[in-house]
Amino acid sequence: MSNKQILLASRPNGWVEPGNFKLHETDVPEPAKGEMLLQTVYMSVDPYMRGRMNDAKSYVPPFQIGEPLQAGVVAKVIKSNGGKFPEGAYVTGMGLWANYMTTNGAGFQPVDPKLAPLSYYLGILGMPGMTAYVGLKGVAGLKEGEQLFVSAASGAVGQVVGQIGKNMGCHVAGSAGSDDKVAYLKDDLGFDAAFNYKTEDVHKAVRAANPDGIDVYFENVGGPILEAAINNLNFNSRVALCGLISAYNSTLDDMPAGPRNLFVLVGRSVKMQGFIVSNYPELCKEWIGVGAGWLKEGKLKYRESVAEGIENAPQAFIDVLKGNNFGKQVVKLSDA
Ligand SMILES: NC(=O)c1ccc[n+]([C@@H]2O[C@H](COP(=O)([O-])OP(=O)(O)OC[C@H]3O[C@@H](n4cnc5c(N)ncnc54)[C@H](OP(=O)(O)O)[C@@H]3O)[C@@H](O)[C@H]2O)c1
Repeated sequence: MSNKQILLASRPNGWVEPGNFKLHETDVPEPAKGEMLLQTVYMSVDPYMRGRMNDAKSYVPPFQIGEPLQAGVVAKVIKSNGGKFPEGAYVTGMGLWANYMTTNGAGFQPVDPKLAPLSYYLGILGMPGMTAYVGLKGVAGLKEGEQLFVSAASGAVGQVVGQIGKNMGCHVAGSAGSDDKVAYLKDDLGFDAAFNYKTEDVHKAVRAANPDGIDVYFENVGGPILEAAINNLNFNSRVALCGLISAYNSTLDDMPAGPRNLFVLVGRSVKMQGFIVSNYPELCKEWIGVGAGWLKEGKLKYRESVAEGIENAPQAFIDVLKGNNFGKQVVKLSDA
């Protein structure tokens, strides 16, 4: 039995390429006293990992060249040497892009495979779902019946944002990068309006999709969509700055110009606030109860893209940055 890992081979300059990663094979590690051996079932692929590939100061340290990438995982405890969780338990936490790893369990939580499929703990009941809830409740203070607009609306975070809005009786509009994604938003998730930002005039489309203006803009992408959204913000509206993926692969030399219309925020008394989901642990915990309840009641739908095998993780990550994923991207490494 061997352990495959994906290492960071080099730091990207601009777009991520397959050559920035290296597949490495080692022996399966032995858990030391107080540790457990985990077998990864699902690994997460998240846009923020792009930032960790740079050698830059941020809220999490950069990945190190020659070391495995770190990411959220759902894993099974297959051996315990007096560890925190029993053999056979399923856990989630910050793991490695690897088939196996050892841990003392710090930062890992048990998950219940009967409550939801295991991959959901990396998506709708995991960090992305929590991000949607934190951004709307903790940052933007979304109220019942308000006008909500979200970009990257069919993605891991966006699809939850829109559905929370619908469950709160809001008018919900979203943007996405293909006609299939737009159809999913309108026909399956019940969005009131949605448009393909790649084929439509973004300024006209944002206005048409939000006929009564925008009370809360949940920002995932930046660029022209942010500028168009700003033009349609209502008085006392809020912008939750969750992510700006359109700039993640830019270098300082080709970074797009920021919105030219920030003066709108002054005259309309708009609050714009960035946030990091992990700074709101109480709301994250609350979301697991709320989200699991809504899933059970059929008030939340969920879509994911599942790549198979660790060899395909780098391409799955590149796909997320290019918009080739449809819903939350995960990589399946083993059967539960
Ligand atoms: N602040 C936090 O704590 C936190 C936590 C989690 C995630 N985030 C952020 O939330 C955002 C969404 O993350 P996610 O995990 O839900 O990813 P995701 O939406 O599942 O995948 C990323 C999506 O971004 C869209 N995209 C890529 N390039 C774009 C561009 N140039 N312009 C417009 N859209 C583009 C693509 O969808 P289309 O096909 O629609 O273009 C792609 O599918 C990211 O910005 C991420 O960094 C922040």
